[in-house]
Amino acid sequence: MNAHGDFLIIGSGVAGLRAALALADAGTVTILTKAEPTESNTGYAQGGIAAALGPDDSTDLHLQDTVAAGDGLCDPDAVRVLVEDGVRGVRELLEWGAAFAREADGRPSLAREGAHSVRRVLHAHDATGREIGRVLWERVVRDRRIRVLDDARASSLLVERGACRGAAYVDRAGVIREIEAGATLLATGGAGQVYRETTNPAVATGDGVAMAFLAGARVADLEFVQFHPTVLSVEGAPRFLLTEALRGEGARLINRDHEAFMARYETAGDLASRDRVARAMVREAERTGSPVYLSLAHLDAAFVRSRFPTIAQVCGEAGLDLAADPIPVSPAAHYMMGGVATDLDGRTSVRGLFAAGEVACTGVHGANRLASNSLLEGLVFGVRAAHAMTRPAQTAVWAETAEVVPIAPPEGPAPSSAAVRDLMWRQAGLVRDRVGLAGAVQQLQAWVAVSLRPDGGLPVPTGDREAASLAIVGWLIARAALRREESRGAHFRTDRPERDDIHWRRHVADVRAD
Ligand code: FAD
Ligand code: SIN
Repeated sequence: MNAHGDFLIIGSGVAGLRAALALADAGTVTILTKAEPTESNTGYAQGGIAAALGPDDSTDLHLQDTVAAGDGLCDPDAVRVLVEDGVRGVRELLEWGAAFAREADGRPSLAREGAHSVRRVLHAHDATGREIGRVLWERVVRDRRIRVLDDARASSLLVERGACRGAAYVDRAGVIREIEAGATLLATGGAGQVYRETTNPAVATGDGVAMAFLAGARVADLEFVQFHPTVLSVEGAPRFLLTEALRGEGARLINRDHEAFMARYETAGDLASRDRVARAMVREAERTGSPVYLSLAHLDAAFVRSRFPTIAQVCGEAGLDLAADPIPVSPAAHYMMGGVATDLDGRTSVRGLFAAGEVACTGVHGANRLASNSLLEGLVFGVRAAHAMTRPAQTAVWAETAEVVPIAPPEGPAPSSAAVRDLMWRQAGLVRDRVGLAGAVQQLQAWVAVSLRPDGGLPVPTGDREAASLAIVGWLIARAALRREESRGAHFRTDRPERDDIHWRRHVADVRAD
């Protein structure tokens, strides 16, 4: 028998949890989450959450920095919502007891990160996401109107006559179940696992984008994948993020000769936007034939260890002293700017289906996300989507058309997750070109066709399903990157190295053919 509820939320990161709290007064809420409830990108977020709270800051300035990072593709109305609702959302978190670091006078301590013109990042040292998740989770578990099903992996959206009426999921015993709801929110987070090197945990396999695309929802801006420049790069150690806040506090990128090289590539030096820093690092490593390093040796060692305790510990486990040693770093896939296209209230192009957080493409990030704007996005748009879910009849509409994408007939062997990740890293990563992208699209298209069930849905066994999800999202990323014949924000093509506003100041969107 199918379960019923008023509202279904898929995902228990910042967006899903905040939406659940906003919905509980309006009806019964079920959260499906595919692993432990706290396992999410949110739980690993380090640097912080941006909000215009400082004496030298304003929402206008935060908007300007966000739009500048977005490289011509942000939706200014969405950014206005982000920065203004964001101040309220962060104040609410403080009222709810978020233990952010404080100055001696009690005001929240504000950190600096790349491409922010002032200090505006609230943080819980280097474990901000864990603290935000704790505050939201504690409220969710206390609320009896919210039911959480963990180890419950959504496998497809139930769509009838163009409207979403819930989702199918696989429970921890491997049984397929259905849950019906008046409104369904995708809060499934990102897709870092599409790439061989990533900062994202294992749950970030892009399932929301894959399910939404298969259900006929519009997806957009998927060519824009952010690669974080500084990830611990030690053989055998996990690809652990080394927060940008390290450079905000004075850490420098150095080459094998201990030369701080960023100023040679970028006027903003170590605090240039992420895509620029990442590409400069690759060029420097190619030039010298050696890895590049992050150095904090010139900073006060006690400050370094107390400000970044988690990172100091992880480096220690890899045999490195964060405060003294050059720390080998390299870029890794970090964040998906595109996703399921939504309006400012989380509505998608499918009636009854909503999206918020990293899975959504609201237009706030454009071609590149400003650091620490993502936790904020989840908080702000989780609430807005929740309010809209109480009125599920409308869908979002767009002025620009989407390309209608058929799925080819199945042929050839099914992919492994590792094969998809490797292909994406080599041919659709930080530096791209037409030949590599065209090859990736062709291979991924074949993999998608052979991965799907005969009815066009995602397969059920975990391994097959993960590979299918990765192949779909990888295919959509590579297709969009091939079409965008310019370089902009996080999307860089060696065969089209310039930004081309005449032809490409627009979004690339796809929708599945019926
Ligand atoms: P998530 O927090 O990723 O939650 C997604 C949820 O969906 C998870 O519970 C997952 O298990 C569940 N899920 C996925 N698929 C399914 C399925 N099929 N069925 C059921 N459940 C499913 N951003 C900042 O703003 N500041 C930072 O300092 C920062 N640091 C970061 C550091 C790291 C290492 C990483 C990886 C990201 C960081 N980010 C940061 C980005 C930010 O953490 C994420 O973009 C944000 O937390 C996404 O929140 P979300 O709620 O959309 O998704
Ligand atoms: C970081 O701490 O460097 C990551 C911040 C972010 O992704 O916004």
